[in-house]
Amino acid sequence: MLDRYINLLKAGQIIAFPTETVYGLGADAWNLSAIQKVFDAKNRPADNPLIVHISSREMLHQFTDEIPEGAEKLMTAFWPGPLTLIFKKKPDVLDIVTAGLDTVAVRWPGHPLSQDIIARVGPLVAPSANSSGKPSPTKPEHIKEDFGEHFPIVEAGETQIGLESTVLDVSVSPFRLYRPGSIGQNQIENIIEKAIEVDEKNDGEKSPRSPGTKYSHYSPDARVQWLTEGTPLHSENLLYLLHQRIPEEPADNIIFFDHDYEEMAHQLYDRFRQADQNDYQTIFIEPLSPALQKKEPLAEALYNRISKAID
Ligand code: TXA
Ligand code: MG
Repeated sequence: MLDRYINLLKAGQIIAFPTETVYGLGADAWNLSAIQKVFDAKNRPADNPLIVHISSREMLHQFTDEIPEGAEKLMTAFWPGPLTLIFKKKPDVLDIVTAGLDTVAVRWPGHPLSQDIIARVGPLVAPSANSSGKPSPTKPEHIKEDFGEHFPIVEAGETQIGLESTVLDVSVSPFRLYRPGSIGQNQIENIIEKAIEVDEKNDGEKSPRSPGTKYSHYSPDARVQWLTEGTPLHSENLLYLLHQRIPEEPADNIIFFDHDYEEMAHQLYDRFRQADQNDYQTIFIEPLSPALQKKEPLAEALYNRISKAID
């Protein structure tokens, strides 16, 4: 069933495939012209580096030979899984992958289909399989919206997590968190038994070291706004995403997650895309307090993605 996609990748073509976070747009990580196709298809700025996806420790060594002790512990704890680690790169890693930086981002995805594909083709670069500026795809339909009906997609339904991986730089000391995800700061610190640094607001503005975070990736066409406390919920062409505040009456335009942040993360990007299809003018989202974010890694990741969509 995978043969067609494996052959495309081996022939230097690009395909979309599922990971546990979002769908990725894959290309052979050692094929310059294939990787160029990824940038072209997404309309991605050339200064935004890609994540290399692997399925063995041996593949990791193609890209780096500087693995700090704390990174070893994190790989043991969280790989395969939704954690991207940034290492000092080996000299022959292609510049197009790293956007000319001296570091390379690597992740070992947990989805069995991604593992099968990588095991058969070799390491793949894979940004999220959306056009730049659109929300990351969590369903095959999202990819078809951006790249057309006939784009080659290894279809596997909805992705489990729904938000992109945690991105942690382990080439610096202390380690530095560039993008929060379902693996949170506390979990990382518990494993390495050290404090890490967190990019202020995770907005990347202060972090030229993670170029991608300066782009507003996550926006739907509808405006996204935090819902002010006490504001009554009404009009039909507004969409509300609530997690604590119980709606007085059920309505199609009011989605209530009832403290289920896994479900909210799972649905967020699909709700963004649906909002555009249903011509919702504004998406109001109940704020996620700092206290909640401390308790729930996904609330922190949700806050980060929603804040970017508001910018
Ligand atoms: O969950 C995910 O990570 C998904 C799935 C498909 O694996 N991929 C994904 O890739 O979200 P992308 O390209 O949409 O996001 C990669 C992020 C960008 O913010 C990029 O700037 C950052 O990782 N990044 C990549 N290489 C880096 C490097 N060497 N230094 C700093 N940041 C880097
Ligand atoms: Mg992306």
